[in-house]
Amino acid sequence: MDFIVNYKIQISKSIEELSEAFAQILIGKVNNSKDHFNIALSGGSTPKNIFEYLAAHHQNTIEWRKVKFYWGDERCVPPTDSESNYKMAYDALLGKLQIPAENIFRIKGESDPALEAKRYSEIIKKLLPPKNHISQFDLAMLGLGEDGHTASIFPGNIDLFNSANLFEVSQHPETKQKRITVTGRVINNAKQVLFLVTDGNKADIAAKVIEKKRGWQSLPASLVQPTDGKLIWLLDYPAAQKLKSGIKLEG
Ligand code: 6PG
Repeated sequence: MDFIVNYKIQISKSIEELSEAFAQILIGKVNNSKDHFNIALSGGSTPKNIFEYLAAHHQNTIEWRKVKFYWGDERCVPPTDSESNYKMAYDALLGKLQIPAENIFRIKGESDPALEAKRYSEIIKKLLPPKNHISQFDLAMLGLGEDGHTASIFPGNIDLFNSANLFEVSQHPETKQKRITVTGRVINNAKQVLFLVTDGNKADIAAKVIEKKRGWQSLPASLVQPTDGKLIWLLDYPAAQKLKSGIKLEG
């Protein structure tokens, strides 16, 4: 199966520069959106640094009141748990910006996973406009795991990517922690998809996915091929160092 993918790669010297690049994308898209802007946040440690940067430097440059916050995935833990993607985003950004509760649609990690995947799918179906008969996010943030997972779709359950449902129950392969995850139909239907990848420990997997190195097809992140949306890879130098184009470290 071959893909013709239109994507852009933006490489930044540091996480601050990458966060600024992300902020500029948000300024361009959010501030020019006519009414509201539906964003799916990703979890993990990379977004935490980015959210903290946005809270510190972009409280007044982005029209945050337009933004409705959803999640691409959530760990099945209470919202007060240090593992919670909601808690991480709230503490790093949403609370600092005083985002009104009515604009925050968290996945309820404390609920029964199967019921919550269903409930959240219904919420998304109800609140997001459809495109190609599938709910469409204005922007979907994604991270990249060292094993090639994205959102909470892992190589061992890659079939979730092509689920007919909008959200599914997943499980972390090592910790066995239950997760709720967005599926590939929704990811690939987003107007804009952003991979945010930092640190040298992601260099091999980033090159394998981007440059379709041997075994790329078995990686969930490789299946992210937005239909008529756009894909941008935001990498820092360490994460980009294995790309064939041979990133030259300036300075
Ligand atoms: C999660 C994320 C997950 C994450 C990757 C990369 O809930 O953990 O959605 O997909 O994006 O594991 O995480 P880092 O960017 O922190 O390495």
